[in-house]
Parts: sequence; structure tokens; C-alpha cells
Amino acid sequence: MSEPELRVFPDSEALSQEAARQFESLSRECVGERAVFSAALSGGSTPRRLYELLAGPGFSSGIPWHRVRLFQVDERCVPPEHPDSNYRMIREALLDRAPVPSASFHRLAAELPHREATCREYAQEMARVLGSKGREAPGLDLIYLGMGPCGHTASLFPGSAALDERNLWIVPNYVPKLAACRLTMTFPVLNAARRIIFLVAGAEKAETLRQVVQGPRQTELYPAQGVQPRKGRVSWYVDEAAASLLNRRAV
Ligand code: 6PG
Repeated sequence: MSEPELRVFPDSEALSQEAARQFESLSRECVGERAVFSAALSGGSTPRRLYELLAGPGFSSGIPWHRVRLFQVDERCVPPEHPDSNYRMIREALLDRAPVPSASFHRLAAELPHREATCREYAQEMARVLGSKGREAPGLDLIYLGMGPCGHTASLFPGSAALDERNLWIVPNYVPKLAACRLTMTFPVLNAARRIIFLVAGAEKAETLRQVVQGPRQTELYPAQGVQPRKGRVSWYVDEAAASLLNRRAV
């Protein structure tokens, strides 16, 4: 695995603008090479601005949306119009505003009661759309990840069972600290990606970011450290506030 790239931006807006440039550029490159571009989108709050930019006049017209396939990194087990739904945030910021064909966005139906079946069906959908053969995880072209103040990414939380999943691509994961279940992509899928961009902003993440990118490897404690794609490239896009405790000489 190549050394992760770390880019520090003055603020969250600059970080989001560059992340959008990467999406536009990579989508055109991948469609030019293989007629399709696949990406997985995280939820939470940080990526909302990125998704708004992708749907906006500065980027949308440069993206071959008809050849883009979008997946969700994870989802809360709530209805799709619930305020906590990642899908709702992605729909409001991107899907309602950009010419994304409805069949090109693959919603993770985490509200359904039979969660294992939902995860199995979603993995089958990914395999069908991405042309994966057998059990090897599909190599998504791009995955946007966030990082919580506790060091989680996707819905891979410290001490949660999904950290140990080495075969299934999407699993239900009970998160004790939230007393809630999530559906989440697992390390096999994340680490098969060609490109991963972490988006991290805010001073409240500074200590965790320092631990994750410059501290000893403790994946159980800081699951974001488990994102180490075999062949892919990882970039950390962080703002000055989140980078405030980093040893810049080591950057
Ligand atoms: C989720 C996300 C999660 C998110 C981090 C950071 O469902 O919450 O997928 O992994 O990326 O919690 O969230 P913020 O960007 O809101 O800080």
C-alpha cells in the first residue's frame, strides 16, 4: 500500500471544492477508460457540501452522470425520510439536484426488518453492477469516507463486531455507544477500492486525527486505521482545525 496523501485545506469549503474536483476528474477518466465510474458515498454532515457542489453548476455538467454508479458506504436503520437517514441527506444535497438516473443510485434499505437479507441483496446488487466474480470484493473507483471523533469510519465503530468481518461486503453492525444498529460496508470492500478520500473537518477531531494518521496502529480503538487498500490510494483531506495537532514536519 502506498503512503497516504495528507492535504490540509484552510477550511471545509476548500476541502469540499477539491473533493468535488477529484470526483469530476476521476469520473471522466474512468468513463473514458472503462465506460463506467463507481463511487460509494458516506453520510454524516461533512460530505453534504461536497454533494451539493457535485450537483451544482461548477461540476455537474462536467460529470458523465449517465455512466456513474453510486452506492452507500453505510446507513442508519431508520426510514429513508428520517432526519438521521444518510440517504435523505444524499437525496437532498445531490440526487434531487443533479441528473443522476434513478437506476444509478443504489439505496441501502436499512429500514427493512431482515437486515442480513438486505445486506446480502445489496452485495449481490454491487456484484451485478460492478461485474464482480465470486467472493472477491469489488474494486470501487472511489469511496468518500468520514471519520468520527471516536475514530470510526463508515459504521465501523471501535470494538464493534463488523471490524472483524473478512468475507461479507455489507453487514449489520450493532453500535453499543449509540444503542443502535447500522448497515455498513466492511474492510474487505473498503480495502478493494482504487481510491479513498477521507474528509475530516473540525477541531473536535484533531486529537483523533493525530492518533489515526501519526500514532501507533490500534485499529480496534481507531477503526479508520483499518482502511489500507491493497492497491488503492488513500488521501486525507482535512481542514486546518482538524490538522491543528499534527506534527507538520512529518506530513
Ligand atoms: C455516518 C457516516 C459516518 C461519518 C462519520 C463522520 O453514517 O455517520 O457514514 O461514518 O462519516 O460519523 O461524520 P461527520 O462527517 O458528520 O463528522
